[in-house]
Amino acid sequence: MRVPVIAANWKMYKTTGPAVEFVQDLVPRLGGREGVEVVICPPFTCIPAVASALFAEGERGIGVGAQNLHWEKEGAFTGEVSAPMLRDLGCSHVIIGHSERRLYFGETDLTVNRRVLAALANGLTPIFCLGETLEERRAGITLSVCATQLHFGLEEGISAEEAARLIIAYEPVWAIGTGVNATPGDAEEVISFLRGQLMKEYGSEVAERVRILYGGSVKPDNIGPIMAQPNVDGALVGGASLQAESFAAIVDAARKR
Ligand code: 13P
Repeated sequence: MRVPVIAANWKMYKTTGPAVEFVQDLVPRLGGREGVEVVICPPFTCIPAVASALFAEGERGIGVGAQNLHWEKEGAFTGEVSAPMLRDLGCSHVIIGHSERRLYFGETDLTVNRRVLAALANGLTPIFCLGETLEERRAGITLSVCATQLHFGLEEGISAEEAARLIIAYEPVWAIGTGVNATPGDAEEVISFLRGQLMKEYGSEVAERVRILYGGSVKPDNIGPIMAQPNVDGALVGGASLQAESFAAIVDAARKR
């Protein structure tokens, strides 16, 4: 039985003060959290503040993640942050290959792959994002686009054991920040297809263990039917993760699955 994951992607929002206030507001709202894993991915600058605030709240079960990393451990790479640096701050997770990075920052399947390998080698859990654009969906090539991103993102040197540790986030680009979420059926179709691809590449044991999330305009009022799909193992939440109330409601819905 896969434990669902609800992950917050704050993108480029919040300075340290509001980040700490969010944690102080969130923790009492969550109560017991059996049956769901929660991860918060703030901007790099807020990671220490979020980690300390969780600690101060007595909260040990919520993971802290970054939104990107560089694949080298150190070097002359101005502006970059490495996996050991993220570990040093207490990160357990890292988002890799988000469509905003692919679109605005030249991220490719090759660089995604390097980042996934670096995360795994350093004990970070990758939240590996993929998904099709609206044009690709309209052209009827959604599944092949997602299969390609999955295949090349995980290429070279990922063992079955490492693959089983991955979290994958299916985020159709047209659903991100638009208020138009994929239907539960659309999400299930692509996510069950991705699980099938994992089965072909790594075998059924790995495919059954990998958590595959849906992301794109997830809100408290649409998470229920999405989580009811058998292959959907949680959500990567953007806008609705910025307020403790809405994020807690989404966590609660996942827990009740
Ligand atoms: P929204 O929930 O704001 O659509 O963002 C989704 C997303 O990109 C999460 O990574």
